[in-house]
Amino acid sequence: MKQILTALLLLVCLTNSTAQNYDEAKVPAYVLPEVLKTAAGKEVKSRKMWEDVRRPEILRLFEDNIYGQMPKDYDSIRYTIKNEDKGAMNGKARLKEVAINVYRNRKSVEINVVLFVPNHSKKPAPVLLLINNRGTENTDPTRKVKSGFWPAEMVIDSGYAVAAFHVSDLAPDNKDTFMNGVVQLYPEQLEADNGMRAIGAWAWGASRVMDYFEKDKDIDAGNVAVVGHSRGGKASLWAAAQDQRFAVCVTNCSGNTGAALARRQFGERITRINTTFPHWFNNNYKKFNDKENDLPVDQHMLIALIAPRPLYATNASKDLWADPTGTFLALKKAEKTYALYGLKSKLPANPPGINAPIPSSPLAYHNREGEHDLTAYDWGNFIRLMKSRP
Ligand code: GCU
Repeated sequence: MKQILTALLLLVCLTNSTAQNYDEAKVPAYVLPEVLKTAAGKEVKSRKMWEDVRRPEILRLFEDNIYGQMPKDYDSIRYTIKNEDKGAMNGKARLKEVAINVYRNRKSVEINVVLFVPNHSKKPAPVLLLINNRGTENTDPTRKVKSGFWPAEMVIDSGYAVAAFHVSDLAPDNKDTFMNGVVQLYPEQLEADNGMRAIGAWAWGASRVMDYFEKDKDIDAGNVAVVGHSRGGKASLWAAAQDQRFAVCVTNCSGNTGAALARRQFGERITRINTTFPHWFNNNYKKFNDKENDLPVDQHMLIALIAPRPLYATNASKDLWADPTGTFLALKKAEKTYALYGLKSKLPANPPGINAPIPSSPLAYHNREGEHDLTAYDWGNFIRLMKSRP
């Protein structure tokens, strides 16, 4: 009887705490933590103070409270071209299928990368790298299957290389098996409350692909955009925040613990994401269930960590779960960090309408008509951002 009552109580608590709000009028009043004020209470007025003091402070807060540590050491790394076709896509591109093997502690992971490089434009080529969180058929190297999720031909026609790897090579997206990947190389991470979990592992994978790009003469490693959708978009943000070699970040419909402000408590909330996906973020993050206002950061600060590099955040009009307005506001709140670099945002004061993209450096945004997805429309705009850069 006692057990039944406890179970019922738990259910009631969970139901109450996970109630979702989709009504703008019911967004609670909130105060965001200051991006440009140090822990010691000093105003950050220069780029130097941002880079030397405040930026490392914020990075550490995200590591400790949300995404976990990002281990950088490994024993060795090996790149193997498993398949190459100089005349792929009817001669338009060179295909390389690359296996990246990373070793540490006598354990290893293999990251499989599909890469197309345009044959008829300048080399080395800038590249858009997708962290693929959907089926591998979306990134079919044979091109028998073509998908709007990764419209490789369109990217090649625009003069850019295009690449992808799958999240499961780094950490299966499952609460019981996520540790069967990168985390095996760093077992100490599992013990730590601020240890790496699945989203951290996917971002780590993007950095290893970057290690490979630095060795591939066809690729301009100083011009790599890391792209992710939804959970993959949370990982692309964390990858770009951690690894400043990424020149551009694209986060598509990334929502809660992605590009949207947590304190608005609109759509998905922290309790819900931590309950459904307990393997995505570190143990410490669970302390903020139902306590968004206690977080020492909010997501505008993650975007600020990407400055001065261009960032594109998107939403879809029917994807209120990912809070399109909260995403726009997070970008706006990061503007003053870009301003430290003399960069002026072209975003309007209020969210633009549906299908009214602002694909311009340094802060780009759009709210596409339709459902939660990554489509050719989105990619077309990412390419516009790439072209708009000085
Ligand atoms: C769920 C989850 C989101 C996530 C999305 C996705 O809806 O709640 O946080 O972004 O899945 O990855 O598609």
